[in-house]
Order: sequence, then structure tokens, then C-alpha cells
Amino acid sequence: MKHPLADQFDGAAQIQEELEARAADTSDHPARTRLTVDAFHPKRLTLTVAEVITETATTRTFRLQRSGGGNLPPFLAGQYINVFVDRTSRPFAISSSPARLDHYDLTVRRVPHGRVSNHLIDTLTVGAVLTTTGPMGTFHHNPLFHGDDVVFLAGGSGVAPAMSMIRDIVDHSLKRRFHLIYGSRNIGDVIFRAELETLAADHPYIRVDHVILTPSSEWAGPTGLLTSRTLTMLAGTLDHRMVYVCGPQALYPYALAQLTGLGHPRSRIRFEANGAPTDPTTQPHWPSSIDPAEEVTVTTRAGSFRTPRNRPLLDALEDQDIRPEAACRSGECSLCRVRVRKGRVHNAEEAQLRLSDEKFGYTHSCVAYPLTDLELDL
Ligand code: FES
Repeated sequence: MKHPLADQFDGAAQIQEELEARAADTSDHPARTRLTVDAFHPKRLTLTVAEVITETATTRTFRLQRSGGGNLPPFLAGQYINVFVDRTSRPFAISSSPARLDHYDLTVRRVPHGRVSNHLIDTLTVGAVLTTTGPMGTFHHNPLFHGDDVVFLAGGSGVAPAMSMIRDIVDHSLKRRFHLIYGSRNIGDVIFRAELETLAADHPYIRVDHVILTPSSEWAGPTGLLTSRTLTMLAGTLDHRMVYVCGPQALYPYALAQLTGLGHPRSRIRFEANGAPTDPTTQPHWPSSIDPAEEVTVTTRAGSFRTPRNRPLLDALEDQDIRPEAACRSGECSLCRVRVRKGRVHNAEEAQLRLSDEKFGYTHSCVAYPLTDLELDL
């Protein structure tokens, strides 16, 4: 339809013609757009275990291929997929290269009380089929803001996204300096040791240093924790280099204290989201008068159930076979948002709530803990 002001502008008639031609051309846009979006950002993938690689005594890499064949959606090194298993889900960083889309590798370590990681290690064999999300997450390199000289502090299986980043640099011949400082309990726990050594030897812009907490007598390298002293000894002055951190939860406050103690700005430190806090009562805004073990009643449209206050709401809902969409389980992606109609929750520090969430009573259920009886809009 012609705009009433169109005649007042030179060339308006031609532009109008062009718009009409394009509109005719793109009448099936919604369907084509949906197909394109689904190809790059599928809600669900069905993947088959093509190979199981033993990395260490406690760690396996599961090589996953698209069931039925074909390439997988592209991803950025550092991203994760969320694996649905055992009536719940967990995010795992992809450790393979974004240049090789015929598979995703997930590198999983057995951990005490690790419900999903231990289940995968104990049950997954070649030929098993998994349902996952597509690649997600914001823990990836951004050349504009992160520069071309980065440091990565990894602990345990937190090396998985670092491995993907290193493989990305090598496979795409990226001009980026990458210094991995990798803390492990002992030398037998180091994942990808041989490949890391080869890559560092062949590529001068990749450097890898291992720091071993309890070394055997043959280990001649750095030992102990990733202290500020050790970081300075290995990386020199950090200047304004971006520092990524990924590892067990305890590494995060420790690394933050060491890095900020060196005067490194908080804005140049990136943490991978790493699950709900194991003990929310250690967070300063947990109300001191509230007993975390006491049970409260949660009411949904499906009925009511009792759950302890220190259990994340998402886990408590899944226990009842109520499954809100979820991916990061760390308060970041907001997929697990639910509205609290009545009652009060403890929103963990990890919850990246928007102002509108707080205004309209939404919470990120993966990192929300019920403080009182709750009524949910669910
Ligand atoms: S699952 Fe991502 S915020 Fe809860």
C-alpha cells in the first residue's frame, strides 16, 4: 500500500515497486526463517555416542554424532550443550573443535555426588542415544572485547572449554595468544596432557602450564594452588589481558581473590557458569534466622509437595516430574524462569534476574531456594 507521504520523496515510486516485488518474493518467509533458525539453534538434538575415549582414571570423552548422520549446528568454542538424562539435565562444555562439526565431544569427569556426570560415565556406551539442546552459552571468546592475548585458568574438567578454544585457534589459524594455566590434583588427573603438549610445542602462540596440587617426586613443575604468586611467575604481568576461569565451584572465589589481589580489574575476568551454589546459606543475603534443612510446601497446578529450603526449586520440581525448560542451571540463561505467586525465595547471587523479573515476581528456578511455602504459576 502506498504511504500518503510517498509522493513527496524522489524515487519513492521505485522504492515502493521494489518493496512490493520483494514482499511477493518472500511470502513464505516465516516458514523459511523457522527452518533456518532451527538449523542453527535447534531446541533439541538427538545424538548417538560414536566413541568413548578414556582420558584419565576418572574422565571419559563421549564423541557424539547426529543420529541419522550429517553435520551438527555450529558453535563457538566455550559453549555447552545441555544433556537430558535420568529425569533431569546438565550442561556440559563441548571440548571438540568448532571447525569439525561431524561430532561434539563432551569430556566428563566422575565427581563425588555428581548425579548426571557419574550416570553418564557408568551407563553410556557406543550406540547409546542422548537428547540434548543445541549449543548455548556466553562463555566464548569475543575478539572485540577480549583481545588477542588471553589467559585461561582451568581446574579439573574445567579444561574442556579451553581445549575447544585451543583447537579452534589451531584449526582456524587464528592469530590469538592463548596461555592455559591448568591446575590438577595430581599428574594422573591431567586431561588431554599429551595433546596439549603437542599443540603447545607446534604452535608458539599457545602455551600450557600445569600446576599440580599434590605432586609425586618426579614432578619438577609448579605445585600447589593457583596462587597470585604462581600466576605471576607463569604469566608475568597480566596487564589488561582477559582471564577466563573454569573449574570446580571452589576455584571461582579463590581465583577472583588471587586475580583482584594482583590488581587485575574484575571486568577482565570471565567465569564460566557452574551450577547452583552447593550451600546457599553461605551467601550473605541468606536470612540467618531461617533453617535451611526445614521443609516447606510448594504448590503448582499439578498439586503440592514438600521440599527442604536448601534444595534448588528446579531440582525439587523435577523430583515431582515437573520439568520447566532449563539449560545452564546456573542462573544465566533464564529458560527456567517461573513466577512465584505467593511466598518468598532466596535468589542466589548467580541469578541474572532482570528488573522486570523482580517486578513481576519471576525467579530463575535453578538457583532459587524456597524460604517459605510457595505458590507457583506453573
Ligand atoms: S536453567 Fe538457565 S537460568 Fe535456570
